[in-house]
Amino acid sequence: MHAARVVAQCKVNLFLRVLAREASGYHQLETLFCRLALGDDVTVRVGGRTRSLDVSGSMLPLDGLGPVERNLAWRAAIAFSTAAGWPSNFAIEIEKRIPVGGGLGGGSADAGAVLRTLNALAPEPLRADELIRIASTLGSDVAFLTQDTSTLALAWGRGDQFVTLPELPERRCDLVVFPFGISTPDAYRWLAEFPPPLPTSRHLHVDQLARWSTIDSLMFNDFERVIVPRYGELDRALRCLRQSSGQSPPRLALMSGSGSTVFTMVDDNTSESSSNAVGAIADKVGHGVQVIETRTSASVESVRAYD
Ligand code: C5P
Repeated sequence: MHAARVVAQCKVNLFLRVLAREASGYHQLETLFCRLALGDDVTVRVGGRTRSLDVSGSMLPLDGLGPVERNLAWRAAIAFSTAAGWPSNFAIEIEKRIPVGGGLGGGSADAGAVLRTLNALAPEPLRADELIRIASTLGSDVAFLTQDTSTLALAWGRGDQFVTLPELPERRCDLVVFPFGISTPDAYRWLAEFPPPLPTSRHLHVDQLARWSTIDSLMFNDFERVIVPRYGELDRALRCLRQSSGQSPPRLALMSGSGSTVFTMVDDNTSESSSNAVGAIADKVGHGVQVIETRTSASVESVRAYD
C-alpha cells in the first residue's frame, strides 16, 4: 500500500460580495480567500481491495456527516479516479478539526486534500489545471482549496475562478464557533429574498491586497445582513468583538462565508488581557460557543507521501 497525508487547511473570506444570480440559480460572487493554519488531517491509502472513508474527531456533529456518497472527499476520490483512470480502490481517513457547516470550507478543504494526495501518489499525475478543473465540478470553494500556489486569492464567478496573490505574513486569527451550522443553500435563498443593493463601482489596486492594513479596511460580508438578524448569538458575538476591550482601531470581526463561524484578526502584539477578551466572548454569547485560536497561513501545507 502507498499512502499520502496532508493537512487540509480551512479558509476564511476576508471580503465577500454576492453579485448576480445566474439562470442556473447559482450566484456570482467576488471574494478574497485566505487559508488558515487550522486543518483536518487527511490520509489517503491506495492499493487495497476496497473503497472506504473513515471520519473521526471531536468536531463531528452528533448526527454525523450524512451518507458517504454525498461526502465531498469521497466524491473527490471518485472524480479523480474517473478522470485519471486510477486508482480503483482507496482508503480515506479524515481527522476533523475544522468545524462542520461553519463557513470555513471544511468539506471543500478535505476534497482538495484528497485530490492533491491522490495526484501525489498517481503513477501518471494530472496537470495542475486538470486537477483544478475536477475541483471546480465539486463545489465553489474546492478549486481554491486544491491549488497549492498561494494561501491568498481574489476569486470571482462562483468562487471557482481566481487569481492567486502574494502571501502575507502570518497573523493570529481567533474563530468563534457556534454549536449550529448554516446551510449554504438557505443562506443564498435568504439573500435572494432580500438582495443587496448593486455594488457601486469600485477600483481595487493590487497593492491594497498586499498589506494587512489595507485589507482590513476592505473586510465585509454580504451574508451578514440576512444571517445575523436570524441568529441572536451571532449578533451578540459580532457586537461584543467589535466593541471589546476599547481597542483603537476597533477589533476586526467578520462572519466567514455563509456562516456560522465568526473570526477576528488579532495582531500579535495585542496585549494578553485583550486576547483573553476573545476567550471571554464564549461565556458571554451563549451555551456551546467555543473559541479556536489559529493563524492565517503563509504557505500551503505540502503533501507527504510514504509507504
Ligand atoms: O458550492 P456548494 O455546493 O457549496 O453550494 C451549495 C448551494 O449553495 C448551491 O446548490 C446553491 O444553492 C448555493 N450557491 C449559490 N451560489 C454560489 C454557491 C452556492 O447559489 N456561488
